Amino acid sequence: MKILAIETSCDETAVSIVSAKGGFERPVFEVLAEAVHSQVDLHTLYGGVVPMLAKREHAKRLVPLLKRALEMSKFKVQTCPTARRGSKKENGANKLEKEIREEIKEILEREPELAEKLLAFLDANEVSDIDVIAVTEGPGLEPALWVGINAAKALALAWGKPLVPINHLEGHLLSVLITDRKFKLRSPKSKKIEFPVLGLIVSGGHTELVLMRDWLDYEIIGQTRDDAAGEAFDKVARILDLPYPGGPEISKLAKNHLDIECPGQNGPLGHSMSKCKWGLPRPMINSKDFDFSFSGLKTAVLYLVKKLGGAEELDQTTKAAIAAEFQQAVIDVLVHKTLKAAEKHGPKTFIAAGGVMANKSLKQALGQALEGQNSSIKVLFPDVTLATDNATMIAAAGYFRALNSEEPRCNIGASLVAKGNLRLGQ
Ligand code: KG4
Ligand code: ZN
Repeated sequence: MKILAIETSCDETAVSIVSAKGGFERPVFEVLAEAVHSQVDLHTLYGGVVPMLAKREHAKRLVPLLKRALEMSKFKVQTCPTARRGSKKENGANKLEKEIREEIKEILEREPELAEKLLAFLDANEVSDIDVIAVTEGPGLEPALWVGINAAKALALAWGKPLVPINHLEGHLLSVLITDRKFKLRSPKSKKIEFPVLGLIVSGGHTELVLMRDWLDYEIIGQTRDDAAGEAFDKVARILDLPYPGGPEISKLAKNHLDIECPGQNGPLGHSMSKCKWGLPRPMINSKDFDFSFSGLKTAVLYLVKKLGGAEELDQTTKAAIAAEFQQAVIDVLVHKTLKAAEKHGPKTFIAAGGVMANKSLKQALGQALEGQNSSIKVLFPDVTLATDNATMIAAAGYFRALNSEEPRCNIGASLVAKGNLRLGQ
């Protein structure tokens, strides 16, 4: 199955083309093309993502990325038997049927620039051998999500292909199944998942512990009550006068600092739980549930920095020490709650995914703690470049969703809407 996937839920515009086979038993993914545009430079100016700017940028970038992905994949551009096309144009390409043009214009009514570019693209390029189009329907910023959804609807209509809506968080979890991203390996491997699976999603918008008893079956067993882990990284970076996004900045600063300031000590479940110099809290670490809270930790950093005279008064070493201890506090809580959940539910596989999993120290701490608790558990992390938002993970989820759906969803049209607060399992 060849899947074209589109992701526009936040500040990355991404298009991927993935070839998948093997079904639920032995899924194998071959990534044929990835085209991504990060809007980080744009949003950095505002210290965070501005939804309407994100929407505009997605609309501007999507068609060039689509073209690039199709070129990269080297797909033969051919006429799809199911696509309804109009009469031959002088240059040889078939123009879209008038009726379809009008429908596409209507779908993209709110994105006129995108409509124009997409129609021109569709006129010049006939349908390539794509089997399914997958698109993120939520959660995320609704104005941003709409761009991807409407573009996907237009492509599905023009090409006569089924459209599969994807939960972004499901994409994050399944991103660990992608093994071949060199676009060269001819025999990518299948990664086996054994159920039950315990999943930890840590991103800019979410911190959730999820139980998967089977494919595409999710039960949220814990979640943050306020800020997400990534959001805490971003906010603390701002307090320390570091640019957006804060996660990579904090982890860069914290690197090599932990050994000096945070010698580590054994926590209640045996993993290293450092106290460190500043005495930052580990919120809810001992609560009986699997929920999280990071806003108090962020506020503690804010007070600490104020007490020290403000970010501009801090020398680089002190900033690094605060960054290191903050990061350690987040790691301690995430590791502790994960171990507790694993103790209760006895998963055979553990998956951690989402942008914060780009953090090496977190990955190391989770891996060591889980394997220390149960040496037979299979621990899966995404490739570091697939931890943050991308369309390849949406394609992976699209594969399973397409396999799972009884009828090809060719006419999903009006029922597919942006769902900013979509939850796993909904
Ligand atoms: O999954 P993602 O790309 O977008 C959402 O779905 O939210 O996650 C983005 C988040 C941001 O908050 C960013 O600061 C954080 O992931 N992040 C990191 C690191 N790299 C990205 N957090 C900690 N350490 C990192 N190395
Ligand atoms: Zn994400």
